[in-house]
Amino acid sequence: MKIKEAVFICSNTDYKRCPRGDKPEYAFIGRSNVGKSSLINMLVGNKKLAKISSKPGKTQLINHFLIDNLWYLVDLPGYGWAKVSKTERVKWEKMVRDYLLRRENLQCVFVLIDTRIDPQAIDINFINWLGEKGIPLVLVFTKIDKVKTNKVQQSVSKFKKQLLTYWEEMPEYFLSSAVNKAGQNEILGFIANINDN
Ligand code: GTP
Ligand code: MG
Repeated sequence: MKIKEAVFICSNTDYKRCPRGDKPEYAFIGRSNVGKSSLINMLVGNKKLAKISSKPGKTQLINHFLIDNLWYLVDLPGYGWAKVSKTERVKWEKMVRDYLLRRENLQCVFVLIDTRIDPQAIDINFINWLGEKGIPLVLVFTKIDKVKTNKVQQSVSKFKKQLLTYWEEMPEYFLSSAVNKAGQNEILGFIANINDN
């Protein structure tokens, strides 16, 4: 699938104010700075669509992008940023959790994992929560351009080992780089497949 048009629609703090849920939708989540906004830009081929930053905590709202007038990509704020106050964190959690639980046209959540770092409890806990709630998810290991090729699989294996203490099998996963577009065809193919069914 090749994307022809990607348009920013709106930013919200409340799932109730998101666009009418009449099109399939895919949301991107993961720790602050893991590369959610960059991945969205890479997928659509527009470096300026979603706002990115080298400082964590850039995306703070639920952002909808309409793709080819047919489906939505959703950029969410990151979790696990130490500098956020407790009040802010509680607000964020409610916003994102309500969205994930109630957005009926949400087809799949892409949970992004930084390939460079060891498995983090916060990621595992979040994935477990999605599993408990029955929210469909896949994983994306990001920034693979920053890691030696043989280390990428090592990183995935470490993560898998941790996850399999809770899960019967490893969810489907992708490897990505916003720098060299690794994963673009695979992720867009995955989405196209769901959209067509
Ligand atoms: P928040 O909105 O703060 O939660 O962050 P985010 O997950 O949206 O991350 P963002 O896309 O803003 O990227 C964070 C930083 O990582 C930026 O400096 C990006 O340029 C960099 N980055 C993102 N993806 C990649 C990648 O695949 N490779 C490399 N080398 N850098 C990346
Ligand atoms: Mg972001």
